[in-house]
Amino acid sequence: MSSRPMRNILVTGACGQIGSELTMALRERYGNEHVVAAGHRTPPPDDVRDSGPFVYLDVTDRQALEEVVEQFQIDTIFHLAAVLSAVGEQKPDVAWRVNMNGLYNVLEVARTRSLTRVFCPSSMAVFGPSTPKENTPQETILSPTTMYGITKVAGELLGNYYVQKFGVDVRGLRYPGIISHKTPPGGGTTDYAVAIFYDAVKYRRYTCFVREDTVLPMMYMPDAVRAAIELMEADFRRLTRHADYNITAMSFSAGELAREIQKHIPDFVCEFQPDFRQAIADSWPRSIDDSVARTDWGWRPAYDLPAMTVDMLNALQTRYQQGQL
Ligand code: SER
Repeated sequence: MSSRPMRNILVTGACGQIGSELTMALRERYGNEHVVAAGHRTPPPDDVRDSGPFVYLDVTDRQALEEVVEQFQIDTIFHLAAVLSAVGEQKPDVAWRVNMNGLYNVLEVARTRSLTRVFCPSSMAVFGPSTPKENTPQETILSPTTMYGITKVAGELLGNYYVQKFGVDVRGLRYPGIISHKTPPGGGTTDYAVAIFYDAVKYRRYTCFVREDTVLPMMYMPDAVRAAIELMEADFRRLTRHADYNITAMSFSAGELAREIQKHIPDFVCEFQPDFRQAIADSWPRSIDDSVARTDWGWRPAYDLPAMTVDMLNALQTRYQQGQL
């Protein structure tokens, strides 16, 4: 498999929670002009729009994707554009169309144009109620009960197929819930673990949409960005998996998260009013075994719950004091 360098990178979903930070990290590393940010509906953050090339792109439009790849001589795609789990349950048709057709277009462009590499994130949503919930193994039952999870399982299988069948270098991670303070997440089940910080800083109150005892695997954004870049820069010969590496950083309940925030904001009050997203959360693992990623490409998270909480609160309190929240 190719050990060609990544020179000109396209990031789809570049205005999203992960994409907006990944784009800036890639520009820092590969040069601003070499990282093209592609957004669709969400308006671009100023830094993403102003620091390098920015285009509007609907990933379900194969022709439009071809034109961007051609125009910027793209050799590598980080394909972040997707509909997440909660919106996917409300609009399963849109989730299927965007997640499957978008990925298929990206993989076909990579195959026909012999691109160097493709990154397509997967998710812990590939697991379902019949999967072991504690320390969920790398190789296990994939029977999700959400449309989002179904598209992610199919996406992993498709990515692996393109590796075996066509020699396209497709790499992917099963992200847990991602916590960050730059761009809010949209439409995911794990969004409560981000919203709780914003509301703690702004209102000292939050109403959480999952039960207090709901435990899910999570990761802080700096680790999530580093994981994507490290996997993409890893020597292909060391990889025993392709589109489906388990990774995690920490696991905690919604109540534990609230109590961690209370250590810094003692008058913070969190209430719990579960809605339809509880069932989605209940179908996912409580903790994940990421030992294969650790062995194959040296994956190590840097942030645990206390370190992440301090960093989140510092960042959001600064923005709040500057009138930016
Ligand atoms: N954070 C995602 C979601 O909640 C999981 O991949 O949908």
